[in-house]
Amino acid sequence: MTCENDLRQYAPATQRNRDSILETLVSVLPPVGNILEIASGTGEHAVYFASKLQNYQWIPSEPDAMRRKSIDAWQKFCYSPNCQSSLNIDVLNSTWTEGLKNLKIIAIVNINMIHISPWKACLGLIEGAGNLLPSGGILYLYGPYKQGGKHTAPSNQLFDESLSLQNKAWGVRNLEDVIKISQQQGLKFMKIVNMPVNNLSVVLKKN
Ligand SMILES: C[S@@+](CC[C@H](N)C(=O)[O-])C[C@H]1O[C@@H](n2cnc3c(N)ncnc32)[C@H](O)[C@@H]1O
Repeated sequence: MTCENDLRQYAPATQRNRDSILETLVSVLPPVGNILEIASGTGEHAVYFASKLQNYQWIPSEPDAMRRKSIDAWQKFCYSPNCQSSLNIDVLNSTWTEGLKNLKIIAIVNINMIHISPWKACLGLIEGAGNLLPSGGILYLYGPYKQGGKHTAPSNQLFDESLSLQNKAWGVRNLEDVIKISQQQGLKFMKIVNMPVNNLSVVLKKN
């Protein structure tokens, strides 16, 4: 049943990728603390991960106002006391970490954003993560990547082409470029994990 003021939005891919992402998160996260999710989208990941990761406070964020309403609607529908209200964070804003230090974030999670936003958003995300995370803090990225400048699967190449048709500034990023800019911000590359449908988990740790 749907109700007219039900503001929940749906992204079916979240149902398909959430368990593999959860498994990787469990293996790399510090044992307890506050996790900031950047680009939470509909909020389906946020409520799912919060319910499964009871040792953590999950703090979703989104720059899009309707999506923030969706996140908060999902949080009401699937209530988890450790899932916070959504924050309005746009990583294109160079001061996005201001006022967040007191949240004592131990990990930042970012799923399927850096290819669906300009490269500047990836730079802003990583610069902010370098600024916000404490030593040992984790930056977790999920999405498709090129490796050595080449696509790793024909489906990723098609996806990349469809992205640049939608917006010339979007596109599947090169893993080595992401690792390089991370190192410049004091984030050490830990590992990649192969994920379903030719996606990768990329795990970085603050020095
Ligand atoms: C494909 S959706 C992914 C959403 C969610 N993480 C998921 O996996 O379903 C991309 C999200 O990135 C967000 N986004 C785009 N540019 C952003 C920016 N500069 N700062 C923060 N989020 C951004 C969009 O608003 C959108 O919700």
